Amino acid sequence: MSMSAPRRTRRVVSQLSEAGLITLWMEETELPPPAPGEVTVRMEAAPLHSSDMHKLFGPIDTDRLVQAGSAKVPRLTAPLRDGAMAWQKNRLGLVIAGGSEGVGTVVATGPGAEAWMDQRVALWNVSTYGDHQNVKTAQCLVVSRQVDVADAASAFNNPLTVLCIVETARRLGYRALINTAAASNVGRMLVNVCREEGLGLVSVVRRPAAVQQLQAFGADHVLDSSSADFQGRLVDAIDATGAMVCFDAVGGKLAGDILAGMESSARKRSSEFAPYGSSERRHYFMYGALDPAPMEIPRSAGQSWTCSGWRFREFIRQSSPEDVQRLVSQIGKGLGTTFKGHFSRRIGLLDLLHANVVRECFQRGTDSKTLIAI
Ligand SMILES: NC(=O)c1ccc[n+]([C@@H]2O[C@H](COP(=O)([O-])OP(=O)(O)OC[C@H]3O[C@@H](n4cnc5c(N)ncnc54)[C@H](OP(=O)(O)O)[C@@H]3O)[C@@H](O)[C@H]2O)c1
Repeated sequence: MSMSAPRRTRRVVSQLSEAGLITLWMEETELPPPAPGEVTVRMEAAPLHSSDMHKLFGPIDTDRLVQAGSAKVPRLTAPLRDGAMAWQKNRLGLVIAGGSEGVGTVVATGPGAEAWMDQRVALWNVSTYGDHQNVKTAQCLVVSRQVDVADAASAFNNPLTVLCIVETARRLGYRALINTAAASNVGRMLVNVCREEGLGLVSVVRRPAAVQQLQAFGADHVLDSSSADFQGRLVDAIDATGAMVCFDAVGGKLAGDILAGMESSARKRSSEFAPYGSSERRHYFMYGALDPAPMEIPRSAGQSWTCSGWRFREFIRQSSPEDVQRLVSQIGKGLGTTFKGHFSRRIGLLDLLHANVVRECFQRGTDSKTLIAI
């Protein structure tokens, strides 16, 4: 192991109290030497995804964020939203370290990992909101220093999500898909991958400006869910592409609109008398919950659909190590191009303990994705 290996590290953590209060602070903690097959990474940057916000803050009431501690040693507190404690009980007492992926430089190596010394690596499935992090080399990807820091820091979660979405659709036999909240990082990468792999794609956004952004990006079928003619255009786009599988990050009423659109399109292709709707199979996957309202599915959606939650981590968990390796090497080749990220805001690690900054980070707009420089 290198003599320069750090012994201590700082990291942003959170804890839930019995009273239902989440507190965030910067914890200083011992850093054990890297174990066999592990490296110590000095962190450079990490993205702040919706899932990272959820892990660190839980379902808090953002209107009641309170700045606590001192200017030198800040703390942040907020109560959980009403009724949220019941499903957060297993979090009680745990000190949760933030972050899920990032980029940095290997500064120490455990036995068997010596070849990784001084490499710039993207790392994932480990806490990353700290100065240093120990991680298994199997969770690292060597990244050239030419790759932009934001792309390197977000090399896993969203690119893997996109590749796993495509793989899920393919395994079910679909050649085209619908994606929502589609001006997102995931949405743009999906445009690239579908184009490269010859899959049809219908992208749904919620603002006219996002339609223009995505069309300028090269997307073919881009629909605005806020427009008066959305439902008709949706059916046209499904007719044109044959997209009978949807990956929806929004939920609420949109889920039902899409299932009803698929039913309308399927009925056009059939002449059979079908009192319960078309028998053409279709699938709706919920992979995000940007709209907190309950999902609404109207009768006009027919009955030949399946609805399920979808998480890329679950897909990865069920994949063979060889398949995961194949996906990771595909990402390695497309970093900075196919998997180019779109980050508009940069903050420092300590900013995560400042109420005003955190409030802004809770706005999940196309132009407000946050990168944390460490
Ligand atoms: N299940 C999984 O495994 C998995 C993995 C990765 C990501 N995700 C989910 O995928 C989604 C995209 O992630 P990302 O990192 O690519 O996001 P991002 O780049 O931060 O973009 C977020 C997008 O969501 C849109 N949006 C926000 N609130 C919305 C609402 N209420 N209705 C409709 N659109 C809304 C924004 O559009 P505006 O500009 O119009 O606000 C923006 O384009 C997130 O929901 C994330 O949680 C899920």
